[in-house]
Amino acid sequence: MSDKLRDLEARRETALQGGGDRRVTAQHAKGKLTARERIDLLLDAESFEEFDMFVAHRCIEFDMQSERPFGDGVVTGWGTINGRLVYVYSQDFTVFGGSLSETHAEKICKIMDMAMRNGAPIIGINDSGGARIQEGVSSLAGYAEVFQRNVLASGVVPQISLIMGPCAGGAVYSPAMTDFIFMVKDSSYMFVTGPDVIKTVTNEIVSAELLGGASTHTKKSSVADLAFENDVEAILEVRRFIDFLPSNNKSKSPVRPFYDDLNRVEESLDTLVPSTSNSPYDMRELILKLSDEGDFYEIQKDFAQNILIGYIRLEGQTVGVIANQPLVLAGCLDIDSSRKAARFVRFCDAFEIPILTLVDVPGFLPGLAQEHGGVIKHGAKLLFAYGEATVPKVTVITRKAYGGAYDVMSSKHLRGDFNYAWPTAEIAVMGSKGAVEILYKSEQEDSVKISKRISDYEGKFANPFVAAERGFIDDVILPRNTRKRISRAFASLRGKSLMNPWKKHDNIPL
Ligand code: HXC
Repeated sequence: MSDKLRDLEARRETALQGGGDRRVTAQHAKGKLTARERIDLLLDAESFEEFDMFVAHRCIEFDMQSERPFGDGVVTGWGTINGRLVYVYSQDFTVFGGSLSETHAEKICKIMDMAMRNGAPIIGINDSGGARIQEGVSSLAGYAEVFQRNVLASGVVPQISLIMGPCAGGAVYSPAMTDFIFMVKDSSYMFVTGPDVIKTVTNEIVSAELLGGASTHTKKSSVADLAFENDVEAILEVRRFIDFLPSNNKSKSPVRPFYDDLNRVEESLDTLVPSTSNSPYDMRELILKLSDEGDFYEIQKDFAQNILIGYIRLEGQTVGVIANQPLVLAGCLDIDSSRKAARFVRFCDAFEIPILTLVDVPGFLPGLAQEHGGVIKHGAKLLFAYGEATVPKVTVITRKAYGGAYDVMSSKHLRGDFNYAWPTAEIAVMGSKGAVEILYKSEQEDSVKISKRISDYEGKFANPFVAAERGFIDDVILPRNTRKRISRAFASLRGKSLMNPWKKHDNIPL
């Protein structure tokens, strides 16, 4: 009997060594943790239960039968983060470069199936040379099995990808279908075709970092949501992030203890909006002052900075925030900001996270590039996302809400539950100068007349009361009381029940 126990221990010991000391040292030399070190850091101490430690590949090509390491290049299992169940896989670059074989894929699929069945998030740590070259189409089949599960899990359990090394070729499409992608600066990259292929096909010379590093994907392509300095920071941030999310689409986000005064009066908010209508101010300041303990988990902060998205808590409960940012492009909507916010709204709606919308928007960005880039279709994404969302929706207009953008930004007409405005709100078809230029073209030369027209227009439309008269704004509130008013609004909406008509699925303008 004791021989058998010793044999088990020996096997475990071998499995834990991954690709061996030499390759582990090489991994550390690149500033990267190993697959197991990453899991240890991600999960609560001693909570990890591993599956399939003894799985080995079945390939007999290229003399592969002579090398069958335990685990086959991926560590999988489940554990807890701050006490909540999560499923995790972590590719082991020290074993065949973390490349994906048929059995490697089966291990990932097993924990994805378990996660869906048990209603818990899936966290995938990617560090892989891609398809196991020796396995050919079996490896491609394995990828497709993972992709199919990514699709089925979408909107059922949160899926988070950490990119902590290479992620290239078709392999990128699994993370791309998950809800959030976190990358590590200088040690991770994602691209469909690498620098060598690009050089051959298009003659462009580009480094892997510039092509698909963390900076590229968080600033330019928006493929990734956040970039971190190193593995440790990225993993600790995932732990913090997951606390904001529910475990699945049938449960609510965890309620955290909060130590902030719900009725906190913020007098400084009374002067947040500058007296001149075109002066910028930082909408982030408002978000921080509204949230419990000033905690705002911002997503995609380096992309389309004219809109802010992220999570706060009110009374300890998660709320998704979408806010125009007057500091960048005057907070207008454009292609990038519409796409960014639309996907966020849809995630919140899929996972029953209430939505707070803070509005200061002069309209859609004009220009040839925008029109030719399809701003009509991309803008429609945000409109569609708000229009289909059935979660509690609370909106506060701080200043401008002009034109179509007024409608889009969670207006009353898109089933906004509470639509508040500050006294500084200007709810109109457009700004006063533009309106007067169109309505009084013939008087343009007469500056006295035009200034009078502008001030008449401002008096009539550049305020919240025309909309309030019609009930499109439920109340005009004092800025200083905003935290209290929105917290009460969300509290009153906890029992909200709203269903869209039955359909197989919608046809959002992609
Ligand atoms: C099998 C692989 C491998 C792969 C790496 N290795 N990639 N084994 N299949 N795809 C092995 C290496 O042989 C080596 O084994 C170990 O992993 C580490 O690789 P190195 O090259 O020494 O590491 P490094 O210098 O850091 O380079 C990493 C790398 C490079 C850039 C990822 O290995 C590379 O270019 N690999 C091939 C990438 C690729 O073309 N993959 C297929 C893409 S197509 P030893 O024994 O020496 O430690 C694809 C299609 C997916 O993925 C389609 C899905 C639909």
